[in-house]
Amino acid sequence: MEQTQPTVLVTGASSGIGLATAKLLAASGYRVFAGVRSEVGNAAITTAGLASLTPVWLDVTDAGQVKQAIVDIGAAAPGGLFALVNNAGIGLPSVVEFADIDELRAVLEVNTIAPLRMIQACLPLLRQGGGRIVNISSMNGTIALPMVGSYSASKFALEALSNTLRIELRPWKIPVTTIRPGQVGTAIFDKSRVALQERSQQVPPELQRGYGPLFAQCAKFNERGARGATSPEKVAKVVLKALRASWPRNHYLVGTDAIWLDIGHDVLPMRLLERLIARVSGVMKGERSMRLQPPALPGGSVPQDDAYRHGDRPPGGAGG
Ligand SMILES: NC(=O)c1ccc[n+]([C@@H]2O[C@H](COP(=O)([O-])OP(=O)(O)OC[C@H]3O[C@@H](n4cnc5c(N)ncnc54)[C@H](OP(=O)(O)O)[C@@H]3O)[C@@H](O)[C@H]2O)c1
Repeated sequence: MEQTQPTVLVTGASSGIGLATAKLLAASGYRVFAGVRSEVGNAAITTAGLASLTPVWLDVTDAGQVKQAIVDIGAAAPGGLFALVNNAGIGLPSVVEFADIDELRAVLEVNTIAPLRMIQACLPLLRQGGGRIVNISSMNGTIALPMVGSYSASKFALEALSNTLRIELRPWKIPVTTIRPGQVGTAIFDKSRVALQERSQQVPPELQRGYGPLFAQCAKFNERGARGATSPEKVAKVVLKALRASWPRNHYLVGTDAIWLDIGHDVLPMRLLERLIARVSGVMKGERSMRLQPPALPGGSVPQDDAYRHGDRPPGGAGG
């Protein structure tokens, strides 16, 4: 193995964006350590058949495994690390009202705390190797959408850590980049599909009219994501671009959905953007159906819903 090859560590490389990135970087002249945490993941890396691609056992939430992986990589790459790509991530859809608190903790653990743990552990090797940090964030890392509140919270926090680090690490000229893909066709949507079905059935009957259309629309978006408007290989190419750039950008958007959402965020007033998001995500249908069929209260009075109190059209108005 050539010791002159720049060395990169990619976390969560068993599938999707991580696997595509690890393979592309290894085929592009980097020596890649690919984080896996199962035999299936290990096989995905070894069957790629690339001499410069080495699996490394790495559950990013396990401080002991992280420490061991860094010791092993340090021994194998005495010149240090050229890049850490924090890719491992999870996230299941849920409305915030019913977000499982333990699941939220797990999402924050994997998507926010673990990347920080990886950065802290890798910084000595990154300083040695004149390296850089690439964090895989999301279009949901700057704009929170319905059904992904917990996931967004974790990616917003990752963006905040990245912004601070970028400034703090200037003395060592260690660039910190976040990649913000839109929907990418990976297993993440297969994992979401089952959760969505289960969770839509768990919504209490009295809230179905309000939340039902949102779950239905989210299921459609999930299938769109699974079909893969953007491929993991396209994200991998952007990671490669961030590694090759003399001056990598602070952020890279990947996918037309991410680009359009970002433009909307920049040019539209927040209230209008939120209204559009409510329309596209099905929330407005739920809002309308709540207005058209207000629940009867004892004594026959009709409650004013929040939207009415806040100045929108009254319940029963044409089309809501
Ligand atoms: N797909 C999208 O639409 C999309 C959009 C924007 C951003 N992203 C981000 O892209 C990254 C990769 O996601 P993906 O879409 O490629 O999904 P994926 O195919 O499900 O890949 C997720 C990867 O993270 C790994 N992982 C999960 N928990 C881990 C842990 N505790 N320790 C180590 N590895 C762990 C998984 O390993 P196992 O196989 O062992 O579970 C897998 O390799 C994530 O950060 C995600 O948030 C995805």
